[in-house]
Amino acid sequence: MMYIMGIETSCDETACSAVKDGQEILSNIISSQFIHTRYGGVVPELASRAHIKLIVPVIEETLKVAGLNFSDIDGIAVTIGPGLIGALLVGVSIAKSLAYSLKVPLIGVNHLEGHIFANFLTHKDLKPPLISLIASGGHTELVFVEKKGKYRRLGGTLDDASGEAFDKVAKLLGLKYPGGQEIEELAKGGDPQYVKFPRANIAGYNFSYSGLKTSVLYYIEKIGEKKKKEHLKDIAASFQDAACDSLVDKTVRASTELKIDKILVVGGVARNKTLRKKFENSGLKAYFPSMELCSDNAAMIASCGYVHIKMGETSDLSISPSARLPL
Ligand code: KG4
Ligand code: ZN
Repeated sequence: MMYIMGIETSCDETACSAVKDGQEILSNIISSQFIHTRYGGVVPELASRAHIKLIVPVIEETLKVAGLNFSDIDGIAVTIGPGLIGALLVGVSIAKSLAYSLKVPLIGVNHLEGHIFANFLTHKDLKPPLISLIASGGHTELVFVEKKGKYRRLGGTLDDASGEAFDKVAKLLGLKYPGGQEIEELAKGGDPQYVKFPRANIAGYNFSYSGLKTSVLYYIEKIGEKKKKEHLKDIAASFQDAACDSLVDKTVRASTELKIDKILVVGGVARNKTLRKKFENSGLKAYFPSMELCSDNAAMIASCGYVHIKMGETSDLSISPSARLPL
């Protein structure tokens, strides 16, 4: 039996989790920093300060809910990037202190690999080779998963991430941050065919979202405030449809060319039901994490760390976080 504590502070969620044998989540505590809502996006300095305040209570709560003591923990897994450097530093510093004082292995985990493991936690029998679409607020990437721990990046966004596009368009529509869920709610009563927003046609397996965002901006400037208000739901639904189509189209292309039909869709945008429906209708075997594991959490970090520790990989206490860590 091996208990791994995962710590995740790469953006605006302060999270800690205890996972048994890489598979069984004993506790999964996530403290979301609502302070950013009033600024319409994450303010890095405020995120770091909030992590400092929250990390100790979140770790204590993790142990309490799991019914464990520090002495039960066999390893510490922590996100070392990509993410906001000041935010990452908080998690990495406390993870190092814990590993040192508890005399247990430390493993630095790539946040994107962590997102992939959210799906292995949900669908325990899933086995590579697979293709993973990572669609979050900071990333939109297509990755070939040869085996756990071995990845090849196929492509990614050339500008905005898909979740970022949801957040920016939500702001244009007067909705609050984070915008993905807000747009999904609003779009429920809307007509997705009302405006035909462009689906970017980018070479290879890359994505682009800035063109779509700009066309929403130009469209609402053109129709004026009154018509925008009348058709808010239709505009939200039309944007959502275009944003999801781009994700599905590129994934279908990768699946056809690589002859792999098992697809993992992960990251905050994987919560979106229109996206889930479009994947269902695409003919691919698409797997999604449970709702609470789509967004940033530390269970996925603990589960990923467990596999690396089992493979004999550990990090030493001199590791530093990296804001732009590639997968
Ligand atoms: O994975 P995540 O929690 O954090 C990052 O690593 O970025 O993803 C957050 C992103 C935000 O941009 C948020 O607007 C988006 O995921 N998101 C959604 C939905 N729920 C969250 N996007 C579309 N539809 C949703 N239901
Ligand atoms: Zn994330």
